[in-house]
Amino acid sequence: MKILVTGGTGYIGSHTVVELQQEGFEVVVVDALFNSRREVIDNIAKITGQKPEFEQFDLTDQAKTADFFQRHQDLVGVIHFAAHKAVNDSVQHPIKYYRNNLDSLMNLLDNMETFGVPNIVFSSSCTVYGQADQLPVSESAPIKKAESPYGNTKQIAEEIIADTVHVTPLHAIALRYFNPIGAHESGLIGELPNGVPDNLLPYITQTAYGIREQLKVFGNDYNTPDGTPIRDYIHVVDLAKAHVAAVKRMVGNQMKKPFEVFNLGTGNGYSVLEVIKAFEKATGLKVNYKIVGRREGDIEQIWADPTFSNEELGWKAVRNLDEMVASAWHWEQHYRNTL
Ligand code: NAD
Ligand code: WQD
Repeated sequence: MKILVTGGTGYIGSHTVVELQQEGFEVVVVDALFNSRREVIDNIAKITGQKPEFEQFDLTDQAKTADFFQRHQDLVGVIHFAAHKAVNDSVQHPIKYYRNNLDSLMNLLDNMETFGVPNIVFSSSCTVYGQADQLPVSESAPIKKAESPYGNTKQIAEEIIADTVHVTPLHAIALRYFNPIGAHESGLIGELPNGVPDNLLPYITQTAYGIREQLKVFGNDYNTPDGTPIRDYIHVVDLAKAHVAAVKRMVGNQMKKPFEVFNLGTGNGYSVLEVIKAFEKATGLKVNYKIVGRREGDIEQIWADPTFSNEELGWKAVRNLDEMVASAWHWEQHYRNTL
């Protein structure tokens, strides 16, 4: 069974390609290499012993996308990771985000309908919940007004999918990720942020490696036990495995309605200081950090209620915070040593 993985050389996509191949799926990756490198394909092959098929093009290009589907009429599904994802950049360049994230989705849906490809898994985000009124957050929690154009692309994308599924034979699953961190145990694939990282874990690993001088902890005056914000960090390998579970649910005709939404989190929340402490304990290193003011747009605390995904997908996140931070450090060292 052949799956198209868009954004498959990216962080979450590459880990998912590995899990799909290890479960016997054939994979074709499409990525424009806007935020990833071609070598990722070779590193996937080193892990799995199989080189995935790879095509480099921009999915906002209608002609190229149609030509791709014309040549690949044996697809049973698509996992759509390809998107721009930097929250701050999206505030500065909203059109870039709306165009890339929404045109690519619409091109895919159009061609899936034309060529009869029946299933799509979409990368959504817990950002759609904003600061939820009730914790933990379940899938039925209300969607809050998006804090950024990036977040808005996820909300609009879910609506585009819902409207399309309503009038076509297409089946769709949106997976709302909480905070993916960590890397494959091999150290061969991992997160590769462009420039100065926005996200906490790559900032920590780069500071520990000496690439960044000091981590800024954005605020310790939140209404949380240690004053720093709380998130549901999830190991990227656990996240990747949930995609395989979603694909199996689709191709096995187990969906209960044509568009389903699942939270992907552990159900545990950790504060920024707890993450730093876990990193220090796992690596024996000290992280140079200082507390500064709050970052605009940050929410105070969020963690998932993963009950629905646990029960319906038959999937559960099993890797703990120590494994997450240790694997992120292993990857940082491995990657830097190969430069
Ligand atoms: P990533 O940047 O590592 O991977 C995305 C890949 O998509 C990149 O390799 C990029 O080159 C490619 N891409 C982007 N636009 C494209 C286009 N028009 N055509 C072809 N390729 C294109 O990001 P990631 O962290 O792996 O995220 C994957 C998905 O998960 C994204 O949709 C992201 O919004 C979503 N998501 C990520 C997080 C997170 O914290 N990493 C959280 C929630 C949701
Ligand atoms: C985590 C915590 C920061 C960096 C973002 C997107 C969200 C989703 C995941 C895609 C926060 C603190 C961070 C730093 C810090 N992406 N922090 N110093 O903000 O929960 O979510 O990525 O959908 O949409 O908004 O993740 O890793 O940036 O921050 O103190 O240098 O770490 O304040 O409390 P966030 P993050």
